[in-house]
Amino acid sequence: MPVTIKYLDECKQHGKPIVALTAWDYLFAQVLDQTGIDLILVGDSLAMAVLGYENTLPVTLDEMLHHAQAVRRGVKRAMVVFDLPFLSYQTSPQQALHSAGRALKEAGVQAVKLEGGYPAMAETVAQLVQVGIPVMGHLGLTPQSVHQLSGYRQQGTSPKSEERIMAEAIALEKAGAFAVVLEHIPANLALQITQKLTIPTLGIGAGSHCDGQILVTSDLLGLSDWHPSFAKPYTNLRKTITQAVQAFCSEVRNFQFPESKL
Ligand code: KIV
Ligand code: NA
Repeated sequence: MPVTIKYLDECKQHGKPIVALTAWDYLFAQVLDQTGIDLILVGDSLAMAVLGYENTLPVTLDEMLHHAQAVRRGVKRAMVVFDLPFLSYQTSPQQALHSAGRALKEAGVQAVKLEGGYPAMAETVAQLVQVGIPVMGHLGLTPQSVHQLSGYRQQGTSPKSEERIMAEAIALEKAGAFAVVLEHIPANLALQITQKLTIPTLGIGAGSHCDGQILVTSDLLGLSDWHPSFAKPYTNLRKTITQAVQAFCSEVRNFQFPESKL
């Protein structure tokens, strides 16, 4: 049974943690989906993780759609969520509708994600939801605002910032968002938001009290050359790949592969 908003709501109600990861292509999406995870995000972190950009700002809607189409082809069960890239939704609700609509029409994803919860963004969320496009919010450390935030720093560390993030979370729920990502905020704030909201929270660097957890897959697999302190590499694929390629190099250079059969 494919994962639905209703299923994610039931997970929250029954205290069953939601498991979410990012994917950027068919191959990884297929492997992840077959493990039975609940949600796959085509995150704009692919700008950094697989396209080599300095931050998430440069990636375009068309580039993201190309990746989302590949991911979609690999997924049968998980909910596929499309991360709206920088400047594909901020200028107006109409722009957001057009970009999100393309993600549903051209890539076949079930939902979109956007960053921020300030009043204009709540209005955008409401308009998307009104036409039937499910929206996931993203609060706390919002990487598309890296310059405004003076770097990838923890958010919600002052009473004023805590209050603001809580108010934004409530505004997103009111606007009709079906879930919200909480990134790099204190665990206690994430707990308070999780208790306050009826929609599920997905934490990343936000402690263990969220309704689910999301990680960037290249961080989980130890593929990246750098990962944030709150990410946990469960293996070191970078090392495994390096060793395999070195073995191949060595065998080719020593005429051991392929075996000579005359
Ligand atoms: O782009 C991304 O991978 C994300 C997750 C970290 C939530 O937005
Ligand atoms: Na993102």
